[in-house]
Amino acid sequence: MKVFNNKNQLSNCVDKFKTNSKAIGFVPTMGALHNGHLSLVEKGLLENDFIVVSIFVNPTQFNNKEDLERYPRTVNRDLALLETVSKSKIIVFIPSIEDIYEDKVSSEAFAFDGLEHEMEGAFRPGHFDGVGTVVKRLLEIVRPDNAYFGEKDFQQLQIIKKMIELHKLTTKIVGCAIYRADDGLAMSSRNERLKPNYRKAAPFIYKTLKDAKKKFGTDSAKEVTEWVENQFKKHELLELEYFLIADIKTLKPVKRKSTKKTYRAFIAAYADDIRLIDNIALN
Ligand code: PAJ
Repeated sequence: MKVFNNKNQLSNCVDKFKTNSKAIGFVPTMGALHNGHLSLVEKGLLENDFIVVSIFVNPTQFNNKEDLERYPRTVNRDLALLETVSKSKIIVFIPSIEDIYEDKVSSEAFAFDGLEHEMEGAFRPGHFDGVGTVVKRLLEIVRPDNAYFGEKDFQQLQIIKKMIELHKLTTKIVGCAIYRADDGLAMSSRNERLKPNYRKAAPFIYKTLKDAKKKFGTDSAKEVTEWVENQFKKHELLELEYFLIADIKTLKPVKRKSTKKTYRAFIAAYADDIRLIDNIALN
């Protein structure tokens, strides 16, 4: 498996693929890889000749310094996991801070038609400017035909699609289903840090989303939201940060249901000091 630690090496390799008309897929990650990430790589391999996987813990998207410091860094393990998927068709790109930020580690200010102000945007100020900055710069270096993003971070996926549209970039953005543990918990690099009792409790998040989906068949968004909030109030370990039913296009909370619109329910909750997010399609 090829591993490049700077952007010029990676760019030269991409140039060769381009002259040979190879389709290039791209999976950007922050490392600490798990089966959720691998499912994106596997989907990408079905649709491209080569997949570039980037591993870069992006400092500008963390609104909390401690969270950035505690973020797991497991590059050797990540490389071993990727090798189990393909030795010959994966190129790993581990850029340096300078490759992405040169001498100024700061975000560009983006406007994504208001998508950036909802949910994660409201609770994590500056987060999506950081994500937009790093993804745009990675796309400029990797120049992929297709790039794969998980629905686990649904708002991020919609924002990246919006960035492509607004900045007239040519990469096709492909959304990938949420990969879950057997008990339903959405896979996340943060799950490793959950103490056993919190890990055991955490599937409650997905269970509540599934119940909310059933209720949304008959009840209003307001009723479903109140019901979910009550479920969490009664829960001894998990603390709800927000539950929201939103239109997938605008990510604005639904006021009155319309059969013409597509909705999703979103949750952010704390298990101890670990913040978990999840979401589900409702119709
Ligand atoms: P990271 O959290 O490492 O996630 C990388 C990609 O894997 C994202 O597209 C994310 O949605 C997807 N992913 C994570 N867990 C998943 C799961 N259980 N099922 C399906 N997909 C999953 O998201 C980021 O990194 C960063 O913000 C990044 C886009 C790399 C920019 O820094």
